[in-house]
Amino acid sequence: MSVELVNITKVFGDHDNVLKEFTAVDNVNIEIHEGEMVTFLGPSGCGKTTTLRVISGFEQQTHGDVYIDGELVNDLPANKRNTSMVFQSYAIFPHLSVAGNIGFGLELKGISKTEIKKQVDEIMEIMGLQSLGKRRPSQLSGGQQQRVALARAIVNKPRVLLFDEPLSNLDAKLRETMRTEIRRIQKKFGITSIYVTHDQIEAMTVSDRIMVMDKGVIQQIGTPFEIYSRPDNYFVADFIGRANFFPITITKVSEQGCTCDLFGPSVSFPSFHPSLQASDKGIVVIRPEGLEIVKDDDSNGLLSGVITQAVYLGSTMEYEIEIKDHDKPIIAISYNPVKEGMYSEGDSVRVSFSPLSAHVIRGQ
Ligand SMILES: Nc1ncnc2c1ncn2[C@@H]1O[C@H](COP(=O)(O)OP(=O)(O)OP(=O)(O)O)[C@@H](O)[C@H]1O
Ligand SMILES: [Mg+2]
Repeated sequence: MSVELVNITKVFGDHDNVLKEFTAVDNVNIEIHEGEMVTFLGPSGCGKTTTLRVISGFEQQTHGDVYIDGELVNDLPANKRNTSMVFQSYAIFPHLSVAGNIGFGLELKGISKTEIKKQVDEIMEIMGLQSLGKRRPSQLSGGQQQRVALARAIVNKPRVLLFDEPLSNLDAKLRETMRTEIRRIQKKFGITSIYVTHDQIEAMTVSDRIMVMDKGVIQQIGTPFEIYSRPDNYFVADFIGRANFFPITITKVSEQGCTCDLFGPSVSFPSFHPSLQASDKGIVVIRPEGLEIVKDDDSNGLLSGVITQAVYLGSTMEYEIEIKDHDKPIIAISYNPVKEGMYSEGDSVRVSFSPLSAHVIRGQ
């Protein structure tokens, strides 16, 4: 089932007093395709939960239209929209067994006991809960409770599954396992899903596409690759992962790329925002893994600098490097420190990069 949001705006507050009004969601437009999993990602308060609640019908939008499977659902109450929500607090009933919790919605629908048992057994098997059917929620671990909540949501065969930070109560290790699990189950059933998180790794793991929001406004909608490697603007580049930013002025734009002078030499970058033109201000975005540190006397090195911090993390080595004529230290990650050579604080080095691993966005 597809979900479409058209010009969705949600204004909270006192409608008699404009000064007290607050726009939590500002003209959001997105189409989520059948079977797709889309994540709403952004900082706290950016409007993720509110957008999700507008889709579920728990919140009424101030303007705009919500379509589920092509049907306009603006006037349909939450319980008629056939969506299922999974929260961070699992909201499972403490007085019911695992099987009782999972079958609860089916019972409400008046389905026969034998049919309920069959469907509940089936989903418990898939979710690895088969031996826990008789237990109460208090006798389960956090991860098991979350799986019960997920099983309960799926067994009702909703048109759309909605997740609001479902893993934030779990420890780091369990979060990793569960996010892969959620993605596996979502793909297996092909349920159109919307997932809310402010954890970008979680978003990258579970999503077909990510919608990045800030202050109620969409900043970019794209695949995990596009969001990370081809950010549309400074907010997205800065919010997703870590990045080095080099302000530049564009000298030329051609099919081969956009050209600018970066610390002296002219460099051409094949990947750039399509709106950029000659003489525009731009920012070259290079992720830490896109930089390579070479010895001080290596002529391939473009930027000269001094290492101000070197942190050995086992599989990687992270450096902070002060570059002449650049106000902020740059960060570089070496993924094969033993092979590439390790540097220490105080070492003079040069830094090089391939224009292929950079992307140019619009500057201020
Ligand atoms: N019922 C309400 N009345 C007034 N303001 C509200 C209401 N619900 C949410 N807001 C405000 O709307 C904004 C968006 O809230 P929302 O819960 O959608 O954020 P979020 O992106 O889910 O954040 P978080 O990551 O912290 O959960 C916030 O500034 C919040 O204070
Ligand atoms: Mg929220």
